[in-house]
Amino acid sequence: MRRFTNKVAFVTGASRGIGNSIAERFASEGAKVALVSNNEEELDQAEQRCNELGYEVLPLVVDVSNADQVEHAVERTVAEWGRVDILANNAGIAWEEDFLELKDDNWRKMLDVNLNGMFYTAQRISRQMVKQGGGVIINMASTNGIVGEAKYAHYNASKGGIVLLTKTMALELGKYNIRVNSVCPGYIQTPMSEAIDDPEFVEQYIRMKIPLGKVGKPSDVAGVFAFLASGDAAFITGTEIIVDGGQLAF
Ligand SMILES: NC(=O)c1ccc[n+]([C@@H]2O[C@H](COP(=O)([O-])OP(=O)(O)OC[C@H]3O[C@@H](n4cnc5c(N)ncnc54)[C@H](O)[C@@H]3O)[C@@H](O)[C@H]2O)c1
Repeated sequence: MRRFTNKVAFVTGASRGIGNSIAERFASEGAKVALVSNNEEELDQAEQRCNELGYEVLPLVVDVSNADQVEHAVERTVAEWGRVDILANNAGIAWEEDFLELKDDNWRKMLDVNLNGMFYTAQRISRQMVKQGGGVIINMASTNGIVGEAKYAHYNASKGGIVLLTKTMALELGKYNIRVNSVCPGYIQTPMSEAIDDPEFVEQYIRMKIPLGKVGKPSDVAGVFAFLASGDAAFITGTEIIVDGGQLAF
């Protein structure tokens, strides 16, 4: 399938993990893709892989928690390709911390990247989409944006914020032909989750919590982003899709 020929996608957190899979999925279906990440070394590797596959990409080193850098990256993309049809607003961070010990700086850091960064990117891209007559925005939330998990107060708050940011954007932007949805993955195997949990914990987690009996792959989430960006989702806006192997069915 090549559903995104002549489309331009802007993917944040594209240097590895789920964002990298999303970027490659859009590119494999014909999109030109701005690869956005704060990690220059990983971004170089991601660009190289895309070049080898013959994909058209534009690597942009950006800290999404810096509004000026985000704005500049959107301008660069529009200068290069004239428009942005799809935003995969995916960049994020996570770590465990007890609520009673959670430092103010750590709380702020989490919200700065996961929620403020998502807002800066979504708003700047939305302004471009209004000018060009429409587009599709997909914000990366989490099952932690729907139900709580101990030791993740800062992360859960950021992801819950994204779910409602998404709904509000959908309410205000529908009249500009912009659809906005969020995706809520459960446990997906990526460098982020590998850094937090040891294999023994993961085994137990799967057994106790995931009806499908396995963790997800980045491509399981990338396919849902591609669906939401496609014409098959033309009447879907203001909602969230849970991609969790059945975990929240309990
Ligand atoms: N892995 C999971 O189980 C899981 C589950 C639910 C939701 N998520 C969400 O999916 C998204 C991707 O997670 P992942 O597991 O692929 O993580 P990851 O750590 O493997 O990748 C994160 C990406 O975001 C980029 N990034 C981080 N901070 C940034 C910043 N300030 N500016 C620009 N880029 C930045 C990193 O460079 C990297 O490319 C995150 O928003 C995460 O919260 C992940």
